[in-house]
Amino acid sequence: MSNLVFPKDFLWGGAIAANQVEGASFKVGKGLTIVDLLPTGQKRWEVMTGQINSFQPIEGEYYPSHEAIDFYHHFKEDIALFAEMGFKALRVSVAWGRIFPNGDEEQPNEAGLQFYDDLFDELIKHGIEPVVTIAHFDVPVHLIETYGSWRNRKLVHFFETYATTLFTRYKDKVKYWMTFNEINMLLHAPFLGAGLVFKEGENKQQIQYQAAHHQLVASALAVKACHEIIPNAKIGCMLAAGSFYPNTCHSNDVLSAIEKDRESYFFIDVQSRGQYPSYAKRIFKDHDLTIEMEKEDEELLKNHTVDYIGFSYYATRVTSTDPEVLKNTTSGNIFDSVENPYLEKSEWGWTIDPKGFRITANQLYDRYQKPLFVVENGLGAVDKVTPEGEINDDYRIDYLRKHIAEMAEAIKDGVEIIGYTSWGPIDLVSASTGEMKKRYGYIYVDKDNEGEGSLKRMKKKSFHWYKKVIASNGENLD
Ligand code: BG6
Repeated sequence: MSNLVFPKDFLWGGAIAANQVEGASFKVGKGLTIVDLLPTGQKRWEVMTGQINSFQPIEGEYYPSHEAIDFYHHFKEDIALFAEMGFKALRVSVAWGRIFPNGDEEQPNEAGLQFYDDLFDELIKHGIEPVVTIAHFDVPVHLIETYGSWRNRKLVHFFETYATTLFTRYKDKVKYWMTFNEINMLLHAPFLGAGLVFKEGENKQQIQYQAAHHQLVASALAVKACHEIIPNAKIGCMLAAGSFYPNTCHSNDVLSAIEKDRESYFFIDVQSRGQYPSYAKRIFKDHDLTIEMEKEDEELLKNHTVDYIGFSYYATRVTSTDPEVLKNTTSGNIFDSVENPYLEKSEWGWTIDPKGFRITANQLYDRYQKPLFVVENGLGAVDKVTPEGEINDDYRIDYLRKHIAEMAEAIKDGVEIIGYTSWGPIDLVSASTGEMKKRYGYIYVDKDNEGEGSLKRMKKKSFHWYKKVIASNGENLD
């Protein structure tokens, strides 16, 4: 299969997030953050969606992120493996609580800053470009407990201080930045996305959109600071993407698909076009929502738009207005969807739709006309180690091959894509379930759902495959 389409400086690589790999949750002055309160099992969903109001780990629950894959102590070994695959970029996130343990201090924690200096130096040593997300499902617990997290305007200031600290410290090391990971997740998993918990009887939607406004202003301020401090840097937004299809050609279903997509575009419309979209007025009016804004917000949003559109793509979704059809739903990356009879699903029920990747990329580019950066894509699957110590993950290769081929088609369609960092190049803790057995990696990590294992790293078959893909700049997908 020959593509011959990827630009020569295309950023091939992988993406990880501090909270899912680092572990060392309580080391060198780190404060507790959102993920430190997310157990595995039954309770995880209730915590993620803000239904449980506890600011300490609950006794008797297992918290997989506390050790995760101990990237904190293994990063040199892991980066050497990424370099062996030929990575041009690694997307990482900074743990807010390592830099400002409580979130509202005036001075940062030097030990936390030093850790990321070491991490970035190691990447640069191997010729790997760091791509840094400032907040990936990450708010210090103290800010949640004391201020109510992003429902409170004060978070804008704390975030600005945090982001500015990072830009100032790493200005010579990091050129690619992103503000909030999957910013639209705030509407679907409000605790995970924004540290929101709700009291009985509160108007959740009101709080969510107010928090969204605060994040959007904070994002614009970070863009402003980034451009001032690092003029040659690029800073983007990050959307959990995946277009909605109407279940039928009935106009009700078609309209519903437009509305569902707009729930996500809402955020990027502000971050990229610099103003609230016209349909937002209708959403606010229909749901009787009033968003408090300061008078300088409009100017800020307008003047500090993002340079590129980062997005994750795992699945497309289907919507219907027929109550009977709606009984038959599945979920992919936390979004509910009507079953799509034309597509296969992963072991976790996420639909597999490579062409949907091309469709989604085209729609995003048509809408924003800015470079796209695919910062997550991949297959979560159970892997088996053979007695010979091999991991033959052909299903993962098949998934990635088809998606990369469709990305090439999107480029041929005229879509500008600057890079592709597949999700979890090394096995890590699943965000939605907290499991270890939901593996995405080219590199296997010996650890199970109960936290047992040696943490030994092993190359899977896909490791060798991805190495060839990168070496051929996407021409050889065999
Ligand atoms: C995205 C997140 O939602 O999807 C990641 O940005 C997450 O943090 C990834 O891990 C895959 O989801 P999951 O639930 O399989 O880990």
